[in-house]
Amino acid sequence: MRVLIHGPDNHHWREALKTRLPNATLLTSDDDGEQPADYLVVWKPPASLFNAQDHRLKAILNLGAGVDALLANPALPRGVPILKLRDAGMADTMADYVHYGVLHFHRNFDTYLAQEQHSSWQEQLLEAKSAWPVGVLGLGAIGRHVAGHLAAQGYPVHGWSRSPKVLDNVRCHHGDDGLDDVLSHARILINLLPGTSATQGLLDAQKLDRLPRGAALINPGRGSTLDIDALLTAIESGQLRGALLDVFPEEPLPQDSPLWTHPRIRITPHIAAPTPVEQAADQIAGNILRLERGDAIEAVQVEAGY
Ligand code: GLV
Repeated sequence: MRVLIHGPDNHHWREALKTRLPNATLLTSDDDGEQPADYLVVWKPPASLFNAQDHRLKAILNLGAGVDALLANPALPRGVPILKLRDAGMADTMADYVHYGVLHFHRNFDTYLAQEQHSSWQEQLLEAKSAWPVGVLGLGAIGRHVAGHLAAQGYPVHGWSRSPKVLDNVRCHHGDDGLDDVLSHARILINLLPGTSATQGLLDAQKLDRLPRGAALINPGRGSTLDIDALLTAIESGQLRGALLDVFPEEPLPQDSPLWTHPRIRITPHIAAPTPVEQAADQIAGNILRLERGDAIEAVQVEAGY
């Protein structure tokens, strides 16, 4: 069995997979070139990697949770199952990032940061967590863990997904009306939706206007979901208090982007939930062995985009 790896750190991934797939021939795109393989383990591969494949290709395993970049690849072979990482340790790391963001706004750290610029010592009102409902958009493996984590901290949590879901301690909504409900409650809105044609530009001026005045936005999902101009307008008008952004329509975020210097916007460079090699390698190797045995696997729904 030949497994070709094309990731941000091929050698690391090869070492991690070697112990888990001792009978496999593990190739990397930088050492071995773009060769035909039974399995591709990839993150944002070039089209030429797919063009080098032949009939033996059995599956493509994505080295991340989001498959938007993979599905946008013009050379992606049709009909070959695609597997993405499901949680693999990322949900917990994401919950930490989002919790940090929630505290940033709820505990007024954004205001204290601004006050610090003027040596201003001024205590802000600390409201109860019960007065800070949060909305979590996207209740996949990561979103539902984040929603549960925030509920366990004592925040009222509203969750939204395309299809109906039931989660402990989270008020779950779905569909267009459900989205309006979540938006009307959320003093902090967290976007964990996948980047698909259905979520492209979803958070536009109209949606941001539905949030309670002075709400905050945290986006560690995908940059394509958020209309940046609408965000800037909403912050300027006071409709939004500020935003914590980890993902952008173009990454790295261009040097001349007005987001970098905006006093009410915090930027992180797509680090909210990096793929943890050991846990991800467990899942990838497990999926390859399952495919080899002919066991059922949960493949990406290409039409839905996630
Ligand atoms: C990161 O953005 C991922 O999709 O895992």
